[in-house]
Amino acid sequence: MKFFVDTADTAEIKSLAATGLLDGVTTNPSLIAKSGRKILDVIAEICALVEGPVSAEVAATEYDQMMREAAVLRKIAHNVCIKLPLTPDGLRACNTLSKDGVQTNVTLCFSAAQALIAAKAGATFISPFVGRLDDIGQDGMKLISEIVDIYSNYPALQTQVLVASIRNPIHVTTAAKLGADVATLPPAVLRQLYHHPLTDKGLAAFLKDWEGTGQTIA
Ligand code: E4P
Repeated sequence: MKFFVDTADTAEIKSLAATGLLDGVTTNPSLIAKSGRKILDVIAEICALVEGPVSAEVAATEYDQMMREAAVLRKIAHNVCIKLPLTPDGLRACNTLSKDGVQTNVTLCFSAAQALIAAKAGATFISPFVGRLDDIGQDGMKLISEIVDIYSNYPALQTQVLVASIRNPIHVTTAAKLGADVATLPPAVLRQLYHHPLTDKGLAAFLKDWEGTGQTIA
């Protein structure tokens, strides 16, 4: 499973890139707003930090303007992935860009039917939002299971399932068990994946015993 980080905080991305766990980055208009920076500057900086796909979302809702914005965003770097909302205009733009060899991420997916039409539009990634479904009492992971099943019925569909709106490590491991291709994680959730209290307890005991030996290795 590939791990993307869901943030526009370049300090966080730099630090997580050093872990070797990072395969890409996703941003959205809310995350760009939170960064307090200009989108073109922040996406350029992220693309220089990470080799994999960096999703940059259009702000337009109408096809022609989406295409104009996509033209600007894709010029930033070779690894920019154009993020488009799951609307008729968004899927039309996705179709045009895909035919032109541009990577696309179709976002705000909340149903299997939406995921199916995004794949037919040639999306590189489909982003179902599991946390936001859980938040309204629906089962986000059920949607991931449905999409993975549907896509597996049609091997010609190349769209990768990018699990988004992740809230905790259980979302990550459940998505992995279901065979999702990618998870985009908030930095805090990615860091949570390392932790287990028995790891901390075990390490403390090993270090204490080691200190008692008086030895050094290097
Ligand atoms: C995905 O690409 C989105 O940026 C993100 O995962 C949304 O997450 P949220 O529901 O926590 O805002």
